[in-house]
Amino acid sequence: MKFDQGFIDKVRESSNIVDIIGQYTQLKTSSADQHLGLCPYPDHNEKTPSFSVSDSKQVYYCFGCKKTGNVFTFLRDIMGLSFPEAIEYLARRASIDLPKQPASQHQIQKQEKDKKEKELLKRINALASRVFVKNLQTQPEGSMVRDYIQSRGFSPEIIETFKIGYALPEWEHLAGTFKSKSVPMGSAEKLGLIKTSKNVEKSKTGFFDIMRGRLIFPIESPTGEVIGFGGRVVDPEDKPKYLNSPESPLFHKGKTFYGLYETAKFIRSADYSIVVEGYTDLIALYAAGIKNVVATLGTALTEDHAKLLKRYSKNVVVLFDGDQAGRVAAERSLPLLLKAGLYPKGFVLPEGNDPDDFLKEHGVKVLKEKLAKSPDLFQVVMSWHFKGFTGSATEKVTIVDKLAPYLAQASDRRLKSLYIRELQDRLGVDQKWLTQSLGAAGGFQADSGVAPKSHQNPVQKGNNYSPLEVVKIVNPPKAELYLLNLALKSPENLEAIKNSGVLEQFSHTKIAGLIIETHEKYLQNLNEFDNLTASLVDRVEPPEILNLQFQKQIADLKAGEERKLIDDCIRRVKQEALKRKSKELAYAIASAPTEREQKLEELRDLQKSKLIDFKDMNQE
Ligand code: GTP
Ligand code: MN
Repeated sequence: MKFDQGFIDKVRESSNIVDIIGQYTQLKTSSADQHLGLCPYPDHNEKTPSFSVSDSKQVYYCFGCKKTGNVFTFLRDIMGLSFPEAIEYLARRASIDLPKQPASQHQIQKQEKDKKEKELLKRINALASRVFVKNLQTQPEGSMVRDYIQSRGFSPEIIETFKIGYALPEWEHLAGTFKSKSVPMGSAEKLGLIKTSKNVEKSKTGFFDIMRGRLIFPIESPTGEVIGFGGRVVDPEDKPKYLNSPESPLFHKGKTFYGLYETAKFIRSADYSIVVEGYTDLIALYAAGIKNVVATLGTALTEDHAKLLKRYSKNVVVLFDGDQAGRVAAERSLPLLLKAGLYPKGFVLPEGNDPDDFLKEHGVKVLKEKLAKSPDLFQVVMSWHFKGFTGSATEKVTIVDKLAPYLAQASDRRLKSLYIRELQDRLGVDQKWLTQSLGAAGGFQADSGVAPKSHQNPVQKGNNYSPLEVVKIVNPPKAELYLLNLALKSPENLEAIKNSGVLEQFSHTKIAGLIIETHEKYLQNLNEFDNLTASLVDRVEPPEILNLQFQKQIADLKAGEERKLIDDCIRRVKQEALKRKSKELAYAIASAPTEREQKLEELRDLQKSKLIDFKDMNQE
């Protein structure tokens, strides 16, 4: 997807590079603007921090390995994101809606092709699901899978509602069905239902079934199409316990809830959802009459999950297992849920219990009460961090550091301020101290999570700037490089260099172009000078040419010295331009005798200029 410049700027402005890089390397504030940490680039494996991130300029610079970049180059290098992917990632993170864009002919064709493919894949999954359901129906009483179902207490209604099925313990049962019905085998393979067999002599179809001897839970889209499967072993000796469909054009674990198609209406009417961790957790609750449930698919809750839930109700109860993994999962989900603007509560089961166990031990009435009375998930998480709290100063600081990022994510300001109050009470500190400490703990702005600061003076659309257009600079002359870096250092420098007329004389017109473009951008938004470096850094190749401004040659200059350096550089560039011009003339005179007189005249004019040193030129 191609984004217009206004959108890119908006995303850039609402993403703080310090927060993003802070996820990868611990950054310590070394001055009001500089944050210092170990270089997160794996090829630079350092022991003492030399990686510096500038808050005001939104760029990073490593004094060790000399890498420079902005948030986009960082995401490209560390997460492997393309520019549009990085924009999408940051937009999501800042809760900015992606623009809708008119599709090109090519895109339309691709969309149609994708749609056709998806329809085929859906038909294959539907067929597989029918096969699995029938397999289970035809299993005799006393068979292993029937016994298992009985032991778990799955009623016939439950089996029907959730279309639970069975994959026969055979190698080519499903593959055989597919073959006989002329299903494109490659597509079935894409869905993770079958795989090409290496055993060509023995295999009848050339493929074998992935799910064998497993109880099958079909995973449905919110509109009821089968998009994937979970298969649980029936024989406890078999491993692994679950096999899940791989990611496919139909199925994305991080965006899908198991059970939602059946339970959405109950979530709407109860006006809250219960999030559990597994297929059988959901089924156990549903069977007990608690039907407003969704289950993640053995993965952590994601932002997409949180957004999906929000469509049905703002209220969520996270119901996780009472083991370490369950606690970690519950805690991880807190910032995501708060960020999506949900009202999360939490009930973490007693140690060693999963929802199914809890129901069997305590009954549905107790569970319903527990769910109804569950405290806010923030309180639950907070109390974990207060475990063993003795009131010491170091504990207080540690707790604030832990909880600050969660609070920073809360998009509901009212909720956030109440949580801060509760934290303040439990810590026994005054409000001023807490507010300051939350700020210092990082990732926390008084208004964060609320709508990102709006564009007072958005950059006009339709200019020819394209973020994907990279400007390659080869062998830049030193003086031109210095001027570029000096121009980026302060608005005064930028103005002075722009107005000196030197830009027309640059030998590298691309460098002059960068300064002109920067100046135009600056005029469009005088308040955003500091962003200009960041907006150039992913467009120039190599980005290191923007490094100079952070190095002592420029960074440590006093005001007078800086002015002098600018003047020296300007003079140097002008001198070089004159040299080039006179060389050209000399060449023209030699090769075009007819224009000799006129050219000679021009050359004499040039020679009068004090700036030029012909002896110097002749030696080259
Ligand atoms: P039961 O053991 O039958 O009660 O299943 P459960 O749903 O309670 O499973 P558990 O709590 O162990 O795990 C929760 C979820 O994680 C499951 O529903 C699966 O989606 C996933 N999961 C568990 N074990 C595995 C595994 O071995 N492989 C994969 N891919 N996923 C698993
Ligand atoms: Mn379980």
